[in-house]
Amino acid sequence: MSAKLPSFSSRFAFIMVTAGAAVGLGNVWAFPFVVGMNGGGSFIVIYLLALLLVATPVLMAELLLGRMGAASPPTALANLATKAGSRQKWSLVGWVGLVGTIVILSFYAVIAGQSMAWGLLAASGEFSGASSDAIVAMDQDHKATVYGPMLWHSLFLLMTTLVVTRDIRSGIERTGKYLMPALFVILAGLVFYASSTTGFGKALDFLFNFRAIDLKPALLIEAVGQAFFTLSVGVGGVMMFGAYMGDDVKMGPAVFAIVLMDLVVALLAGLAIFPLVFAEGMDPSAGPGLVFITLPVIFARITGGAVIGTAFFLLLTFAAITSAISLLAPTVQRLNEAGWSRTKAAFVMGGAAWLLGFATIFSFNIWQDWHPLSFIGALDGKTVFELMREGVSNIILPLAGVAYAYMVGWRLKREDVRQGLLMPEGIIFNIWYFSIRFIVPLAIAALFLSSLV
Ligand code: PHE
Repeated sequence: MSAKLPSFSSRFAFIMVTAGAAVGLGNVWAFPFVVGMNGGGSFIVIYLLALLLVATPVLMAELLLGRMGAASPPTALANLATKAGSRQKWSLVGWVGLVGTIVILSFYAVIAGQSMAWGLLAASGEFSGASSDAIVAMDQDHKATVYGPMLWHSLFLLMTTLVVTRDIRSGIERTGKYLMPALFVILAGLVFYASSTTGFGKALDFLFNFRAIDLKPALLIEAVGQAFFTLSVGVGGVMMFGAYMGDDVKMGPAVFAIVLMDLVVALLAGLAIFPLVFAEGMDPSAGPGLVFITLPVIFARITGGAVIGTAFFLLLTFAAITSAISLLAPTVQRLNEAGWSRTKAAFVMGGAAWLLGFATIFSFNIWQDWHPLSFIGALDGKTVFELMREGVSNIILPLAGVAYAYMVGWRLKREDVRQGLLMPEGIIFNIWYFSIRFIVPLAIAALFLSSLV
């Protein structure tokens, strides 16, 4: 590990690439349907609290661990533990995260694959004029064949793997620098279109008006899980980018820009989708099918639907690629430290995600009725895919987040931490430090305890 770690070429590159990791399926695919299912504006308020008070401080901590540890996540954590004089096996936290990256990548590729397939359907005019039954059937056929999803998830993983085989600047960095601005342009176009429809007012009301909802622990966990997932906190992807960041980037403003972009994309995705849903009298709480069924039904009816539909699925695919590369980067770096070439490492780990992806593909057809953990009351009825998605976001990410917070807040020296962030002494640093030491661990502990009772 004596070789010097590669780095991004500029502060702009770091921010774009890390925002690219954050902005993903979580923003464009999951956020709208999770908000739709949980009652709109009230959920958004809770989500904002979770995002700003819990997930954002941890994002900063994770980036800092990468910068200070200057290696892949398991090695970085081990380096820091040694420095802090701890005898605990901190590299384990890094390894659990790496397992998490491959699990997320495996189902990510399947959903992103459907997005690519749907983009092609939209572009070739297959949706135009189709009845809603026909579109439901397209979705079912796609999932039922195994071959369709397999082809597309393979293609998506191949693209991801090829980007990660390159060196940091010509692979990961360049992809983020081009795709992120493109994503913003497409999204702005879609919101502009949506604002001219009759459903825009209703969508604003749905997203930004507070209605009484039932504050169950499950809802709070969902909000925290979504906040961690959307900022990519807790698996080591952003820790890796923290290590590539460069020593001169001030952490506070960079994190501010990244979180702002992530939030803006999620809200704009809602503003692109819900006006169409309301204008066409569809159901906002359709769940995961919102993007792949409800939206195509709408694209089938509206004029220009083929163009809007193609643009939408292109947006979703771009968002997914920039996140997927951040999921593959840390394991590749770790194997590189063990002497493997980037190419070999990327193909082996991309291959592992590819294989595991079959568990998600099967969850939509031959394993549809297999609920492996049905003996645990709350997990009854969940497919392997749902268990992986919810298990990683709602359990691994927050727990790893607490571990990061503990390392930064309690093991490392306060002064080293402040200097690592390049932050002046003052109120902002103090608030962040307080929340890392107390608010984050307590909030997450409270959530886990309340979900047990
Ligand atoms: N943040 C990504 C999204 O919102 C998902 C992700 C999670 C990516 C963890 C990397 C690591 O879709």
